[in-house]
Amino acid sequence: MKMKNLLIEKQDSITLLTINRPEKLNALNKATIQELHDAFKTLSEDKSVQVIVVTGSGEKAFVAGADISEFADFSVEKGGMLAANGQEILFDFIQNLSTPVIAAVNGFALGGGLELAMACHFRVASENAKMGLPEVTLGVIPGYGGTQRLPQLIGKGRAMEMIMSAVMIDAETAKNYGLVNHVVPQDQLLEFTKNIAFKIARNSSVAIAKAIEAINANYEDGVNGYETEIVNFGSCFGTADFKEGTTAFLEKRKAVFLG
Ligand code: COA
Repeated sequence: MKMKNLLIEKQDSITLLTINRPEKLNALNKATIQELHDAFKTLSEDKSVQVIVVTGSGEKAFVAGADISEFADFSVEKGGMLAANGQEILFDFIQNLSTPVIAAVNGFALGGGLELAMACHFRVASENAKMGLPEVTLGVIPGYGGTQRLPQLIGKGRAMEMIMSAVMIDAETAKNYGLVNHVVPQDQLLEFTKNIAFKIARNSSVAIAKAIEAINANYEDGVNGYETEIVNFGSCFGTADFKEGTTAFLEKRKAVFLG
């Protein structure tokens, strides 16, 4: 897969996806959003890819937002389309992927950049990371799911304050808020995140996919997450991974999942 704005490196069972526009602090222009969609789609269809780690190139930014230069002259209609299209092809798409996606937040994650990190299944940050949704300083609001996912992750009051004040929070505060799971020195970020990814990759990818779906069901309108859990739990019993996992346990050996 050759991409203009992305680097894709496969390392055994995990893949590192690096957004590579460092001169623009990895801002998400239309082309990068489309490339990310294409990359996530292809990788999620590849059975040998068990976990995807997303990061930004350079030491300064994960992603400094949607590319402001592309939408500054948009009309009401085009603005609405920008958000709808982005949510559909990238942000909701990542959230609902059955392959686990971890954001390794290596610097500024602002606006669409924080929204991208929040669409991932969970986040690890480097000590220098700064996170915020500064859209109201531009006279607009978050449009890639930020008004929904930020309160889900950190609570309504904190999200209200962050979005209204447009402040950037540091990595430690983000960890205290529950926005990121871990904070590590920048030079250890990828190694640390990949270690988590390799731990995940050892487990049943079939079961993990069902768990992601059940967890996400909690946040879907009109869906009873407990019902989804029951259905997905039951369906695991018909999988080869369940047979292997339980048999291996009873035989006191390590399970070898086919994926
Ligand atoms: N869209 C388009 N270009 C962006 C961008 C964005 N969201 N964020 C940064 N860039 C570009 C800058 O325009 C600059 O390009 P140039 O060299 O061609 O002028 C380059 O990236 C470097 O950014 P710069 O602002 O010079 O770096 P800095 O260290 O002074 O400031 C930030 C870093 C992150 C504080 C600053 O770039 C910023 O505020 N970015 C916008 C954040 C934002 O509002 N995001 C939400 C968008 S919805």
